Parts: sequence; C-alpha cells; structure tokens
Amino acid sequence: MSRETTVATEGHGHGHHQLHQDDWDAVGARLEGEAEMSLDFLEGAASWLTELADGRPVRRVLDIGSGPGVASCVLAATFPDAEVRAVDGSAPLLERASARAARLGLGDRLVVTQRELPDGLDSLEPADVVWASRVVHHLGDQDEAVRRMAALVRPGGVLAIAEGGLSLRSLPRNIGIGRPGLEARLDVALQDWFSEMRAAQPGTASTVEHWPGILAGAGLTPSGTRSFLVDHPAPLDPGTRGVVTDWWGGIGERVADRISADDRATLERLLDPQNEDGLYRRPDVFVLMATTVHAGRAPTP
Ligand SMILES: C[S@@+](CC[C@H](N)C(=O)[O-])C[C@H]1O[C@@H](n2cnc3c(N)ncnc32)[C@H](O)[C@@H]1O
Repeated sequence: MSRETTVATEGHGHGHHQLHQDDWDAVGARLEGEAEMSLDFLEGAASWLTELADGRPVRRVLDIGSGPGVASCVLAATFPDAEVRAVDGSAPLLERASARAARLGLGDRLVVTQRELPDGLDSLEPADVVWASRVVHHLGDQDEAVRRMAALVRPGGVLAIAEGGLSLRSLPRNIGIGRPGLEARLDVALQDWFSEMRAAQPGTASTVEHWPGILAGAGLTPSGTRSFLVDHPAPLDPGTRGVVTDWWGGIGERVADRISADDRATLERLLDPQNEDGLYRRPDVFVLMATTVHAGRAPTP
C-alpha cells in the first residue's frame, strides 16, 4: 500500500456530534457491508460515468472519501485503462481498500492515499473522473469542498457527487409492535442528528444543498442527476440482514435520546438478537433505498 502522509486528526474539533478519525477507523466492516449491499447502485453509477466519458480516455480516477474502497474497485473494473486512487483520512479503511483490490485482482491499479480533507485535496494529481460518495456532507464548507474537488478534474472530465436520495427503509409500516410508522419517525430524529453533526464540523457553513447549483458554482457544467435504487426484497440473505441490523444499531445510538419512550422500547425489541419480533429473526425485513448522484463536467480549453 502506498501511503503518502500520516495525518494526526485528534483534537481538531469539539462537540459530541463531530465524527473523529477513530470513529471512521472503527466502522470498516459496516461501511464495506453497506457498500457491498449497494453494488447495484455503484455499478449503475459507474456505467453512467462511462456514458458521460463519451469515448474520452479515462486514465486516472479519484475516489475521494473512499472508505473501504468498494466503489474504488467498481471504478477500477469499469475503467480498465485507469489507475484508481482511493483517498481517505482513515488508514484502516484504506488498508481494507487495498486488501479488497488485491482479492479482486485489481491491486495493480488501485493506489491508496491518506489525506485529511478538505486541505489534503489540493496536493492530489488531477483525474478524468472524480467520485465522492457520502463524504462532502462530512466537510464543514460543502461549497468550498466541491470547488476544491472540481479543481482536480481534468478538462472535459467529470466530478460525480453522491449525496441525498431516499433513506433506507427496511420494515413494513405496521410491524406488529409499537406504534406504526416507526421508520418515518426515526428519519425525522436522524435529520436533527444530521444537522447537529453538520453544525459541529470545523469551518461549518450552511448552504442550500442544490448540488447541480454547487457544481456550477465550482465552475463545472452540470451534466445530469440520477438516482439509483438498492432493492433487496424479503427474505434477506444473512449478510444483508447483518448489514441492516448494524445499520439499525447505528441509528439507535444516534437517535435514542430524541424519540419517545414507546419508540425506544420498540427499538430495543427490534435490536434484541433473541427476540422473535427483532430484526435478527423476523421474516419481513427488506432493503429499499435510493442514492442520488450529481455530475458536472470540467470545461475544455
Ligand atoms: C460515510 S463514509 C463514505 C464511504 C464511501 N465513499 C461510501 O460511500 O460508502 C465517509 C468517508 O469519508 C471519510 N472522511 C470523513 N471525513 C473526512 C475527513 N475530514 N478527511 C478525510 N476523510 C474523511 C471517512 O473516513 C469515511 O471513509
């Protein structure tokens, strides 16, 4: 694995909603599982990027905030002439990315680079395709972060930002325990958690999250927005069910103090591995979500 810098990330912010590097380091298996569950989205998006490349050679791809490199590997498979550089602040996640690429026979074209964002963007080499999934919202000034990512796109190349969509749904409206509509109420609580997480980022700035407008503001020509479905009907295979239970565990930690005692009791039952009504055993657990990708093209001289 090539690692170009080692970045100390401790103590660069305050407030319990700010995610520190060690938080990311600890969630490698969960992030990899979530991304594997979303391979339909990643492959669909990569195939759209080949359409956007429109015959232009793609020799270099950047995956910014790559995490465990599932998208990096899909991009390497999709662009066989490209070197793909996975960029992230977390060394353990980048190790996962390297291991994954080696397992899939893509190790000779996947390079990992540890960088703290957004400052670490400025020293990267430009690329034909720059992919940034679910990372811009972790950076304080999202417009500024997109501007810095746009500066990394070669003339005629594409920046694709995966942000927004529809949150994961995995249970029927009425699950037979508690008040129907639990997931919708958890979603509301999660939105508040998300706003507080954003407010706690260093250099946080509020912006209207109109991503094509943000891409245009960064000097790119918006070249489309597409949403990709992740759809696993019940019954789930054990691996996907494991991702869902982990997902709910994470949600529980974030919203437990924001929901009613009744909903908290339902959540506890759902997360109890021994409970027949719980997520580990019930037959009706599914996965349905949509992820949106916004693309912008860099001007040619
Ligand atoms: C939600 S994960 C997304 C991972 C992957 N792109 C995906 O869509 O599954 C966010 C990633 O951004 C990285 N990240 C978040 N803030 C960062 C920062 N300030 N500097 C470097 N990496 C950061 C985390 O380490 C993590 O891998």
